Amino acid sequence: MSLFNLLVSKTIMHIPGPMVGYFARDYIAGEKLQDAVNVTREFNSQGIMSTIDVLGEFITTLDQARGFKEQCLEILHAIDREKLDANLSLKPTQMGLLLDKQQAFANIREIVALADRYQNFVRIDMEDISCTDDTIDFYRRLREEFPGRVGVVLQSYLRRTPADIESLSDQPMNFRLCKGIYNEPRSAAYKDPAVINRSFVHCLDKMFQNKAYVGIATHDEKLVFEALRLIENYGLKREDYEFQMLLGVDEELRRIIVDAGHRLRVYVPFGESWLPYSRRRLKENPMIAQHALRQMLGL
Ligand code: FDA
Repeated sequence: MSLFNLLVSKTIMHIPGPMVGYFARDYIAGEKLQDAVNVTREFNSQGIMSTIDVLGEFITTLDQARGFKEQCLEILHAIDREKLDANLSLKPTQMGLLLDKQQAFANIREIVALADRYQNFVRIDMEDISCTDDTIDFYRRLREEFPGRVGVVLQSYLRRTPADIESLSDQPMNFRLCKGIYNEPRSAAYKDPAVINRSFVHCLDKMFQNKAYVGIATHDEKLVFEALRLIENYGLKREDYEFQMLLGVDEELRRIIVDAGHRLRVYVPFGESWLPYSRRRLKENPMIAQHALRQMLGL
């Protein structure tokens, strides 16, 4: 890692918000739902699906949770009204998980019920390990009530993930598999990138073995290669899986995957609470800050 990248990654929490916003602008559709609708429409015209996410997490009041729930309902209305090929992603803490578990479940349930009415789908994102058990429990209960309308994210850096796949395999499963982005203790999570990758392949194999529908969420070409190998080995059809990528990341790989005939969904975040999301993205890839700085200075 270059000195610049190391500096960005170590000091990201102290970089002023407006500067983070400038560096991270490509990762976010905009502040308004209409921005996410416009970006999705453009993707749809290229044969790419989206999952829309309103930014906001680790909130402090149930009123805020109610506000985010209303925004999620509004997203589902908009997807239906505008006839978009899109679904919704949400974060349990945004629905109040760390404030009042029952209320958070009720909020998410209301959203999934509306998705069911529209024959759409809700993906429950996975946050840090303080949320893992409850998030999986919410998913288990909701898929029972609304089969095919809800899915959950599992992270390959967590040591527990193969056991979670096994424990959920008593009913049809719908996962997004990603590496995981939070800073977890070594007792819970692998730290070595090579091991996280091996675990990703192991988990994906286990998911396919158990006939899960999987959103393969990565920009790591080694993992895309491994996923394609597994898809071929299992003789999967195009509708049995999809690739997923973040807005603003590796558009060339996105095109390669789509041109090869696979389905691909882009995660399209929008909203006023863009700062924590942007900081995570920048910490993940300080090269972005370097490019933006170069552009700004005309270098
Ligand atoms: P890796 O980090 O090794 O990146 C591979 C390559 O992709 C890099 O070399 C770089 O070129 C490029 N790249 C990656 N990130 C970039 C960035 N931010 N900017 C520019 N280039 C970048 N995590 C989680 O804990 N819970 C969740 O619910 C989700 N949800 C989710 C949805 C979707 C659709 C995606 C794609 C990812 C997530 N994640 C997530 C994040 C995930 O856990 C992981 O942190 C990132 O996807 C980065 O991991 P990669 O597999 O891309 O590999």
